[in-house]
Amino acid sequence: MSANGAPPETDEFWIFGYGSLIWKPPPHYDRRVPGWLTGYVRRFWQASQDHRGTPEAPGRVVTLIERSFWASLVDAHDSAPEKVWGVAYRIQADKVAEVREHLDIREINGYTIHHAPFHPADGSSPAFRTLVYIGTPDNDQFTGPQDPQALAEHIYVSEGPSGLNRDYLLGLEKALDELSPESGDAHVTDLSNRVRELDRKRREGRFQVEGFEHPVSHEFKRVSSVDEQEETEKT
Ligand code: BEZ
Repeated sequence: MSANGAPPETDEFWIFGYGSLIWKPPPHYDRRVPGWLTGYVRRFWQASQDHRGTPEAPGRVVTLIERSFWASLVDAHDSAPEKVWGVAYRIQADKVAEVREHLDIREINGYTIHHAPFHPADGSSPAFRTLVYIGTPDNDQFTGPQDPQALAEHIYVSEGPSGLNRDYLLGLEKALDELSPESGDAHVTDLSNRVRELDRKRREGRFQVEGFEHPVSHEFKRVSSVDEQEETEKT
């Protein structure tokens, strides 16, 4: 760390993945390091029109919410790990300009480019700066808090050019499990359990897929002053 507490600036270019990037690496990387960010909460609160859904029927994918903002919202999943586990990729030095140019002009369905200090799990170096894509609450695809069962059903029925939305969810659960014994995320596990249960029900004819509709709402329920006290206990 530098004297002001910020990670040191280096010429190296690192990208942090907390979603599909964990198991689908970016092009031209030469190192892959598991670890975490702090100060954020991972949630399936971003609508996906281009990968796990379509413009007519958007799926749901993960974004990061600033922890202080998340704590001001009513969320049925009312706890979240302090560490957002994921993977940092270093881009090969001779490809950095090309990859940067590609990333800067690339529009990823509401996500914008941010930077955050990344903590390598193996402690091989102090925290360093990574680029991270975040769908912030002001983007059109941000859904805000979702009822877990409605969200699981939405994920269960959605599909886009990159495949089934439920495969993305279950792929994320598996990829997180493989990072570390500590890298589980209760939000992801609970949704995965609900999706597995829906699959059992559908096979038994107890859940039907047609006719679902969960439009994106931009009204978030804020904690009231009474709730606020409890919200401070969110972990
Ligand atoms: C991720 O895997 O971290 C990610 C990929 C694309 C957009 C946002 C996040």
